[in-house]
Amino acid sequence: MEITKICCIGAGYVGGPTMAVIAQKCPHIQVTVVDLNEQRIKDWNDPNTDNIPIYEPGLAEIVAEARGRNLFFSTEVEKAIDEAQIIFISVNTPTKTYGKGKGMAADLKYIELCARQIAKVAKQNKIVVEKSTLPVRTAEAIKSILDNTGNGVQFQILSNPEFLAEGTAVTDLLNPDRILIGGDTTPEGEIAINALVNVYANWVNRDKILTTNVWSSELSKLTANAFLAQRISSINAMSELCEKTGADVNEVAKAIGMDSRIGPKFLKASVGFGGSCFQKDILNLVYIAKTYGLNEVADYWEQVIIMNDHQKRRFSNKIVQTLYNTVADKKITFLGWAFKKDTNDTRESAAIYVADDLINEQAKISVYDPKVSRNKMLSDLDYLETRSVQENINSLTIFNDAYDACKDSHAIAVLTEWDEFTTYDWQKIYQSMHKPAFVFDGRNILDAKKLESIGFVYKGIGS
Ligand code: NAI
Repeated sequence: MEITKICCIGAGYVGGPTMAVIAQKCPHIQVTVVDLNEQRIKDWNDPNTDNIPIYEPGLAEIVAEARGRNLFFSTEVEKAIDEAQIIFISVNTPTKTYGKGKGMAADLKYIELCARQIAKVAKQNKIVVEKSTLPVRTAEAIKSILDNTGNGVQFQILSNPEFLAEGTAVTDLLNPDRILIGGDTTPEGEIAINALVNVYANWVNRDKILTTNVWSSELSKLTANAFLAQRISSINAMSELCEKTGADVNEVAKAIGMDSRIGPKFLKASVGFGGSCFQKDILNLVYIAKTYGLNEVADYWEQVIIMNDHQKRRFSNKIVQTLYNTVADKKITFLGWAFKKDTNDTRESAAIYVADDLINEQAKISVYDPKVSRNKMLSDLDYLETRSVQENINSLTIFNDAYDACKDSHAIAVLTEWDEFTTYDWQKIYQSMHKPAFVFDGRNILDAKKLESIGFVYKGIGS
């Protein structure tokens, strides 16, 4: 089966970069990314690719190369579905905020809407690919909707979870550790799997393209995120013990990471993980385990989230305690608001929760982040509904310059590991602050000895 037209529903952090790379690597395939959000599509079509809605290193260049050639961004969802042989579903799957499974299960309403729309529009056989992260056995529900509401055409459902990490999306997509494709073991299923394998084989070595049954593929994505997050919570748990015992978590991480069975990656202690995926996917896993009555399995994974929440709260408590048990009316400067470096994504960022705690203590928060807009920061805080919109505006001041943000503050808290923070003139910052000048390094990126020699009181994580 020769694929010439692909459509992707959802022009977000996954759909946008993934399709841009497919288009760049497959000039013979027309790739159309559609979204209901008109502003988002308008931004993707901005003549200046520096203004596209998602910041990822290297992405603007790829979009500049492929857009208008074989990469298109559009709001015409039905037209794109009608024309494509393969339809990727890459819409958001947030944690449910209502009804059964509230606060745990994945909200599949956007997925179901996509399935119904595909069923309505499709007049030829289609391959439907789950790119979003979905609970195991979702493909069954999608198939049932497609088969029962469609126009009698054949649908093959594939699971092709995305393993990219924000901040390194382009390199991850260009050189993936593996591509996972789950599909039916029937002859029709195998034809569909091969069609998708052939798309990726344009740039990914075939030994890295793994094919499985649909359920293994769906569950592998939840499992991967659970394992990754578990490593962070594990080292963060040790960071608290290090602080009590005189051990240094950076040294412990290095020592254990040299064991080839453990490995050195994802062992950095921090203020806690954020991002749209880890928490949502683990909660989803916990919910699925509970649904099957597997309470021990559910409790085991839930602890990863409990530890992460504890780590965020511990950080804000430490700031308050160190500043003589009161931060009321003190200016505290946050360096970083994004959930990690090299992205403008702030979903579930630790900064939001730490700011919320400190504002409850009547602190005045100043923030500098190289990529996150003022409106985004304020709407992140408003979303928690802890206080009024006006109170948030009064408590949070956003700066375009880090030195201005730090001036006259009592303490600096590093919330994101942006590289530029390590290159600042810390002597100059020290001179502009109230004394004693505190630095709370929530990412352990600054040079503690150097800062202490300048005169800062430096507090990292886990030492
Ligand atoms: P996102 O929120 O950035 O993008 C989703 C887009 O889908 C939005 O622009 C929304 O307007 C659009 N949309 C929703 N319903 C629609 C509909 N019926 N028709 C057309 N457009 C519709 O979400 P993101 O981060 O791209 O995540 C998408 C999925 O990928 C989620 O399931 C997530 O778990 C998964 N994922 C995310 C990763 C990440 O790093 N963000 C990594 C791997 C997987």
